[in-house]
Amino acid sequence: MAIERIVSGMRPTGNLHLGHYNGVLKNWVSLQHEAESLFFVADWHALTTHYDDPGIIEKNVWDMVVDWLAAGIDPALATIFIQSKVPEHAELHTLLSMITPLGWLERVPTYKDQQEKLTSKDLSTYGFLGYPLLQSADILIYKATQVPVGEDQVPHIEFTREVARRFNHLYGKEVGYEEKAEDAIKKLGSKKGQLYRELKTVYQEEGDDQALEAAQALIEEQQNLSLGDKERLLGFLEGGGKMILVEPEYKLTPASKMIGLDGQKMSKSYNNTISLREEPKEVEKKIRTMPTDPARIRRNDPGNPDNCPVWKLHDVYSSEKTKDWVKIGCKEAGIGCVECKQPVIESVLKELKPMQERASNYTESPDLVKSVVAEGCEKARKLARDTMREVREVMGIDFS
Ligand code: TRP
Ligand code: SF4
Repeated sequence: MAIERIVSGMRPTGNLHLGHYNGVLKNWVSLQHEAESLFFVADWHALTTHYDDPGIIEKNVWDMVVDWLAAGIDPALATIFIQSKVPEHAELHTLLSMITPLGWLERVPTYKDQQEKLTSKDLSTYGFLGYPLLQSADILIYKATQVPVGEDQVPHIEFTREVARRFNHLYGKEVGYEEKAEDAIKKLGSKKGQLYRELKTVYQEEGDDQALEAAQALIEEQQNLSLGDKERLLGFLEGGGKMILVEPEYKLTPASKMIGLDGQKMSKSYNNTISLREEPKEVEKKIRTMPTDPARIRRNDPGNPDNCPVWKLHDVYSSEKTKDWVKIGCKEAGIGCVECKQPVIESVLKELKPMQERASNYTESPDLVKSVVAEGCEKARKLARDTMREVREVMGIDFS
């Protein structure tokens, strides 16, 4: 398989918790061994919604980077950087904005959803509308082949693919390419030529893969076309002769089963988290005081794990053997809830221990964190500059 390059970003939310670890970071940690990996702090994206509260961003950035390192992102394997330290992202964003139809942005589902959800903020801004395009620039500038994201981000990756396709279509053509392709279409005959054109339009405008496949099949079937013409027509379908920006695939992060202390999704806004740097004593206390199956009022009332948030933690942290012990012990009132919580407490503490050790190494020497990030920014910038040179050239603004 070709070498993969993955890029992913996270908005700077400050201290991360077990939900982030189990949902995202664990995945990043394993990906860094499999592919060239770039992970960045999306601080500009934070400003699209927190423009009125910029004071917290800087602290959040450093706290989050420390947590990434604590979680096991290894600067020797992965490139860690801050979006705003690679201003080429903004330049690409501006250039891509020239070719991005407004309708594409307005149709991205997160646009209306978030506007409706975050009613306390005025999100009828240019920056917020452009959020997905800035994200496209983040990805395309590195020619990423894969973007690990959660389900909610899939529309943004699909949008990115459309932008890349449009860019390549507009700027990726070789001299005389179009005329040659047009001549080849004529050789298909009027009926098939017309069908080819229709399928091409549907694919290029709507990204309809079925239309692409149908058009490819149509060309493969032709007996009277030379190999050169076949290749020309196949290339023409996808926008031209030269691929400048790479259409990335999304790599879905397996859905996290991590629930919070109250049984809802673990989230800062629900105040139900265990942070990665939570004191062991605090971890113990938080789990000890977690609600359990309300039917178990007394120790000898039988319970049902399905009605208990602690069970959901067992599901993430416990072996089959322990889970069986819980299921039987709970239903038969053979174990008490305090007893039942003990293995969860131990597993969480065991998971957090190496992270907290790494975190304290880094918090004790903030300069180390800064130098990791400075090095990452430098590496990222080099890649970004290369892409920008090509982009400027094909867009006619290369004045060097
Ligand atoms: N929008 C992403 C999120 O909210 C963060 C992000 C910004 C991102 N740029 C990116 C993710 C590029 C992947 C690739 O989670
Ligand atoms: Fe929940 Fe365990 Fe108590 Fe059952 S025994 S209610 S699973 S904490």
